[in-house]
Amino acid sequence: MGENTLTITDNRTGKQYDLPIENGTIKAMDLRQIKQSEDDFGLMTYDPAFMNTASCKSRITFIDGDKGILEYRGYPIDQLAEKSTYLEVAYLLLNGELPDRAQLSDWTRNITYHTFINESIKKVIDGFHYNAHPMGMFEATLGALSTFYPDAKDIFDKECRQKQIYRLIAKVPTIAAFAYRHRIGMQYAYPDNDLSYEGNFLNMMFKTTELKYQPNAVLERALTVLFILHADHEQNCSTNAMRSIGSAHTDPFSSLAGAAAALYGPLHGGANEMVLRMLREIGSIDKVPEYIKRVKAGEFRLMGFGHRVYKNYDPRARIIKQVADEVFAVTGKDPLLDIALELERIALEDEYFVKRRLYPNVDFYSGIIYQAMSFPVDMFPVLFAIPRTSGWLAQWVELLEDPDQKIARPRQVYLGHRTREYVPIERRKAAESGAVGA
Ligand code: ACO
Repeated sequence: MGENTLTITDNRTGKQYDLPIENGTIKAMDLRQIKQSEDDFGLMTYDPAFMNTASCKSRITFIDGDKGILEYRGYPIDQLAEKSTYLEVAYLLLNGELPDRAQLSDWTRNITYHTFINESIKKVIDGFHYNAHPMGMFEATLGALSTFYPDAKDIFDKECRQKQIYRLIAKVPTIAAFAYRHRIGMQYAYPDNDLSYEGNFLNMMFKTTELKYQPNAVLERALTVLFILHADHEQNCSTNAMRSIGSAHTDPFSSLAGAAAALYGPLHGGANEMVLRMLREIGSIDKVPEYIKRVKAGEFRLMGFGHRVYKNYDPRARIIKQVADEVFAVTGKDPLLDIALELERIALEDEYFVKRRLYPNVDFYSGIIYQAMSFPVDMFPVLFAIPRTSGWLAQWVELLEDPDQKIARPRQVYLGHRTREYVPIERRKAAESGAVGA
């Protein structure tokens, strides 16, 4: 019996099994040999929501939730946020190393070259109702893009794959900004390729009559930091969606549309939107204690609090708080910030939150910053999706190159009826038919 093994005794049969332990895991498939009889399917694990299941081996993002550590390819998030740019981080995530000057200039040029979208894509966006949610437009337009690039289906051709990566990272800000402009009934502002990735995004969002849009340097840098912080977060819900869809060898545009749909949910990327709505609903500092009381009574959750992985603090939240100060020095302070600070102060002292290890997550402050920068609330999940595109793509490439991976297909524990005779409609009674609610 080796040292790196786990010995399991099946008390149903008295048999013992030695399972190898590798990287702190046992292979779920090794449990299949544990059977009561020859025709037994074998033991499985039951793990809804993947609370304790590693679905892949990865070399992209490291998180230690207890220590509050987040690293991309080994580089601590605070160093990247302070010193890097979003495009450099995107390169790092996708290629594993920081680029040298020539590589960065090549990468930036290739992405800048692809910022324009086909004019017909504009018609897709035009087709949405005037009050369509920008995230709905964003994910649907991403799906539509797959029909414009049928070559993207060639996912095992590295050169072709690289082209789709340029296209996607380049075009997501354009689609996002066009969705916003459609929503407010303004003509689209085309990409300005003289500007930085973030500066150009601000241009496409906010340009009006000026001949050349000049982004505010502080706000441009704030956007860079926010984009870096949101670029990847290992196997979160939307990345898992990206990998799951990608495992069927779907093209990257359709896979990304699916990942964006997962991000849209209020428990994931929709949380910053919910934080802002919550702060507005609370309305003033004196209403905070009453609101906390209702959270504790289980009426609803405190949005922007809690995280599946971070149980001490979210390192991104700390960086974002600094960015908030810099942004407010330019835009003026948002009164909602005072409500947020009070909410955080009370919650961090309260036994309910302390006991459950609930701390502000990345979304608690990002929404207030985005609002101060004039982004409307329903653009928040889209602002999350733009930088996460590089993370989704990095994870997708890793999946495609991983020989261990196959089409994602979990098992289930079936607890329903077994084989029954079909009952003709005239002989059915609601109770007998097992109708919903019966
Ligand atoms: N407010 C109040 N109570 C909470 C909150 C919250 N925000 N989050 C968790 N809890 C409580 C739960 O009610 C539960 O209490 P119980 O043990 O008495 O039943 C306990 O804390 C554990 O909660 P779980 O749901 O098991 O925690 P999980 O790890 O599954 O959920 C999640 C993590 C989804 C982020 C959760 O904390 C939440 O809903 N937060 C609010 C939404 C949010 O901010 N999402 C953004 C996440 S960050 C991101 O996606 C970028």
